[in-house]
Amino acid sequence: MDVKEVLLLHGGAGTWKAPKERLEKALKDIEDACIHGWRFLKTGSAIEAVTEAIAYMEDSGSFNAGTGSVLNVRGYREMDAGIMDGSTMDIGAVAAIRYPRNPIRLAKLVLEKTDHVLLAGSSADDLARESGLEEIKAPSEYVLERYRDLLKKYLKGERSIFRKNLELINSLKWFDTVGAVALDSSGRLVAGVSTGGVWLKLPGRVGDSAIPGAGFYADKNIAISSTGIGEVIIKTMPGIRIAFLVEQGYSLEKSMELVIDYISSAWGTGNTGIIGVDRKGRHHIVFNTKHIMVSYKDSEKQYAKLLSREQ
Ligand code: GLY
Repeated sequence: MDVKEVLLLHGGAGTWKAPKERLEKALKDIEDACIHGWRFLKTGSAIEAVTEAIAYMEDSGSFNAGTGSVLNVRGYREMDAGIMDGSTMDIGAVAAIRYPRNPIRLAKLVLEKTDHVLLAGSSADDLARESGLEEIKAPSEYVLERYRDLLKKYLKGERSIFRKNLELINSLKWFDTVGAVALDSSGRLVAGVSTGGVWLKLPGRVGDSAIPGAGFYADKNIAISSTGIGEVIIKTMPGIRIAFLVEQGYSLEKSMELVIDYISSAWGTGNTGIIGVDRKGRHHIVFNTKHIMVSYKDSEKQYAKLLSREQ
């Protein structure tokens, strides 16, 4: 039986409160990333499609990942990324890294060339350097400007490095992490994700994008990629929950709806978005934020959209 090839991307769940031009550029970039990744789905595998689509978004500067990554409370970037091949259950993830232009390429390298699942910090950066991965460019003026504004607000408040910065970040509800899920013609399901994390985070903070089962997960039935507040996503492990429900016989759609309802009832709304695809090529998107940006392609249709919901 022919397998329906599918590529679905997200550019982050959140308020997407941005000037019109930035929104339009992000929509164009996510659509181009999907078309770019699709070529790799046709000529390679779901692993290449997910990696290349995410690398494209990391390079675009439109999203909180790679070059567009947000800055932590000390003013520098620390990025997380992960990728999982559902056909082998192999995983590659990197946490709190600063060197590579494309964290997703380092995650893929961990998956394909090491005996490990997750590498962190400066040693992971050394591996990227030694493996010839390109170095990241300086943050864009857009990121720097935003950081300066936020820092001003943060410094004005009654601050503590332990709590108050997370309150400020949560009040922004802007989490434009990038992610992708794909099903290729051999039936292989792959999930990936990449992020700069949350604004003004403490140095060393690792979010869900480095944690399999939380930010990303794939097995023989499904591939899932999450976006939102990493602390909530790690506590609720949506990838594992959805995989388990599908294993029990629920559809992908029903499983994802049950899990987002659970997250909203346990942790409130405004914190999570999830994209998923199953082995039949059916896809679904759930989010409890105001918006999520997505792009989709199969052999018949293609779109890029900012989806909305009333809160
Ligand atoms: N979801 C991205 C992060 O919280 O790091």
